[in-house]
Amino acid sequence: MKILILNGPNLNMLGLREPEIYGDKTLDDVKGLCIEKAQELGHSIDFRQSNHEGELVDWIQAARGQFDGVVINAAAYTHTSVAIHDALKMLDIPIIEVHISDPKTREGFRHTSYIEPLASQVIAGKGVDGYLQALEILSEL
Ligand code: DQA
Repeated sequence: MKILILNGPNLNMLGLREPEIYGDKTLDDVKGLCIEKAQELGHSIDFRQSNHEGELVDWIQAARGQFDGVVINAAAYTHTSVAIHDALKMLDIPIIEVHISDPKTREGFRHTSYIEPLASQVIAGKGVDGYLQALEILSEL
């Protein structure tokens, strides 16, 4: 499988950003772990991060026909972006939504996800292991 892993705003600051919530691994560490897991499962991954909603939309549009699955942690855009929802809706491949923390147990403004209705599965509150679980779930789908 060819899997696109997308990360939204502020996830480039992992390791520095609120480590009590997000842990001490950097996004590069997460990328390394995903590469290892993908190799183990026999998949190839394309791991990306952007702070810009439009760039994420462009990447999702370009994924049509290019990938067999998407893992997305849209970060704060999860709770706001109809544009990312609409772009994901055009994909006919499985989507796994990942969050390092569990947004549903945090502030009220994090309780709505515009991605959840399109996701085959949501993994939240498992730390960065959630990314690895998402790769395993995609293998099984
Ligand atoms: C997050 C949760 C979001 O609410 C938050 O805006 C993030 C990270 C997570 O991985 O736990 O930036 O998606």
